[in-house]
Amino acid sequence: MAKESTVQLPKKESILIANWKMNKTIREALKYVEVLPPLLEGVTMPIWLSVPFTAIHPVRQRLGNPFVIGAQNMNDATSGAFTGEIAAVMIKEAGGDFVLLGHSERRQYFHESDEFINRKVLRALESSLRPVLCIGEGYEDREGDKTQAVLERQLTEGLKGVMPEQILTCLIAYEPIWAIGTGKTATPELVAQTHAMIRQVISSLYGDDTASRMTVLYGGSVSPSTAATLSATEGVDGFLVGTASLDPESFAKIAHLSENAHP
Ligand code: 13P
Repeated sequence: MAKESTVQLPKKESILIANWKMNKTIREALKYVEVLPPLLEGVTMPIWLSVPFTAIHPVRQRLGNPFVIGAQNMNDATSGAFTGEIAAVMIKEAGGDFVLLGHSERRQYFHESDEFINRKVLRALESSLRPVLCIGEGYEDREGDKTQAVLERQLTEGLKGVMPEQILTCLIAYEPIWAIGTGKTATPELVAQTHAMIRQVISSLYGDDTASRMTVLYGGSVSPSTAATLSATEGVDGFLVGTASLDPESFAKIAHLSENAHP
């Protein structure tokens, strides 16, 4: 009879991430992180802040545990002649512990390919930065019944070469492009369906057990008025919040509403 495995896989994590995008100077960032902690009293779910590069170090210095600070992008090279780019080791030394990769704004405005994003994922893992791989379909993909194909490609290509023992270090953020910054939140039914689809792809790559432990976040016009319903939605393990994370009060409200759904 086969012996039961004694390897303890990590439990699924519920996480709330703020993505400030290209907002907040150091001064504004420090003001924000002074206001935020008392507003989060009673919240036990991990709060991650994805801030501009310039704010990583000062915010890290100011905010103690359990806050986790990260970046919104990085280059796949370790160093070299890549003017204007930033390396994983620089983020790490500044106090960053995670990095968003493949955000649709990077794919759309900076023409980042799945292959490039994949190289960054591998580099982040090698550098002890947790990658948050962002995926999502455009409006035309959704209308043209191409959602599954797009997400499958983004996941399969983006995670190429990620070993089974590394995969749970990664997080997936599902952000339908048509719902980003538009005020159009995807319906809970659509989110549940799409998260199930994502988990199926993870399962085909890494097995059922891993897929069930994978943290899959939702992002796209999450606000205090939609957070309760969406966080109670099957398969949603937290949010990646843009606009509503810029105001500490509304971000904290989302945290409390998410906490109720994942006590
Ligand atoms: P909004 O919350 O502004 O729609 O942005 C979502 C997003 O892109 C987070 O990464």
